[in-house]
Parts: sequence; C-alpha cells; structure tokens
Amino acid sequence: MRKKVIAGNWKMNMLPNEAISMITELAPLVKDTNSEVILCVPYTDLFYALLTAQETNIKIGAQNMHWEEKGAYTGEVSGQMLKSIGVEYVIIGHSERRQYFAETDETVNKKIKAAFANGLKPIVCVGETLEQKEAGITEQIITNQTKLALEGLTNEQVKNTIIAYEPIWAIGTGKTATSEDANNSIKAIRNKILEIYGNEVAEDVIIQYGGSVKSSNAKELFGASDIDGGLVGGASLKAEEFSKIVNYDK
Ligand code: PGA
Repeated sequence: MRKKVIAGNWKMNMLPNEAISMITELAPLVKDTNSEVILCVPYTDLFYALLTAQETNIKIGAQNMHWEEKGAYTGEVSGQMLKSIGVEYVIIGHSERRQYFAETDETVNKKIKAAFANGLKPIVCVGETLEQKEAGITEQIITNQTKLALEGLTNEQVKNTIIAYEPIWAIGTGKTATSEDANNSIKAIRNKILEIYGNEVAEDVIIQYGGSVKSSNAKELFGASDIDGGLVGGASLKAEEFSKIVNYDK
C-alpha cells in the first residue's frame, strides 16, 4: 500500500519570517496525518524552515538544484549544499523551470542522478501543455518525459523517486484535471514504469497530481486509485488551507 505524499511548492514566495509563522501554525494542524508532509521552499527560507520544522512531521525540500557538486556556476546551488544543511527533498524539472529557465529532459535526468548521489529524494515533474492535450498526445508526452527523466537510474532509485504529474494548463489557473483524467494519466505513467522497471517498482513508486489542488478538490483527487497525493502550489501558502489538503481524509 503506497503512502500519500502531500508536498507544498511555495515557488518564489514567503520571506523567512513568513515561513517561520506558516510552519509554526501548520505543525499542530498536520501532526496526526498518515501522509508524508513536505514543504518545498525558496533557498533563502531553507535554513529557517528546517529549524522550525525540527521535531515535527513536516519535511523540507528545495525547488531546484544544479547537477554539479561545485564550481563556476554563478547563482546555482548544488545537491551537496542542500544536503549539508539537512534538506531531504528537491523538486526537479518543474514546468516553470522547463518553460522559463530552459530545463530539458536531459538536464532533468542529470539533476535527478545528482540528487540521488547526494542522498536527496527528487520530486520530478512531468506534464502536457494545453496544445498537447488538445492534440490528444498527453500520454505520449508524459510517458516519454518520465522515461527520459529516469534513464539510467537503478530500480531502487526509481522506487524512491516521487513523480508529480502536473498538466501545465492546470497550474495556477484554477482549472483542475478531473480525478478520472488525472488518474488515467498517472496510470499511463505507472504502466511505462512497469514496462521498463517491472511490477514491483511500478507498484511502489509514488505518483502525485499537481495543478490547482485545493481543500475543496483534494479528497476527490487523492481518493482515486493511482493518485498518491499532490504537489500543491498556491494553496500551500496558507497553513489552514494546506492543512485541510493534508487532512483530506479526516
Ligand atoms: P498550483 O501549482 O497548485 O498553484 O496550480 C502547482 C505547482 O506548480 O506545483
């Protein structure tokens, strides 16, 4: 039985004082959940978030990393740096990074390998654009992105990868995929993993849905057979709203 994993993606929001208040308010509200709770915060909040989340069940992640350990890459942060302060998770290949910062399937793959090399768990985003959805090629796009992202990983690493299926047209738009469509897309991703890595890996790998998840739709989405929780953007900025998403089953 797979655990639900509910991760917040704060994107470029929240100053350290806001991060500290939010996590302080959130902690008692989510302490009894059976789900894994993660907050992926800006680099400048990481240290404060880690300290505030100590002795709680909230895990802290970053939103990006570079694939090299160190060197002349001005402005970048490496997996080794993240690990050194106690970060556990890192989002890789979010569609905003693919779209605005020229990330490709190849850099996504390199970053995932570097995350594992540094003991970080990657949350890898895949998803189709509106044009691709309308052209009826969603499955082809997302299964191919998944295959390329995971290329060269061991079965054990794939089992420990969290995949976030995020249709791009649903991100920050208020439009959510129906639970049936999201579940079907996630099943397609799981089938691709089954084809390449076998049944055991496919059964264990966590695949989340992301794109306008909120407290009013979390129960229906997370109740679907193959949706193992969510990657939540806008609705993860407020403790009360995010806690309702985490407690979707209560
Ligand atoms: P959203 O963002 O929940 O605000 O749509 C999700 C994401 O980009 O991860």
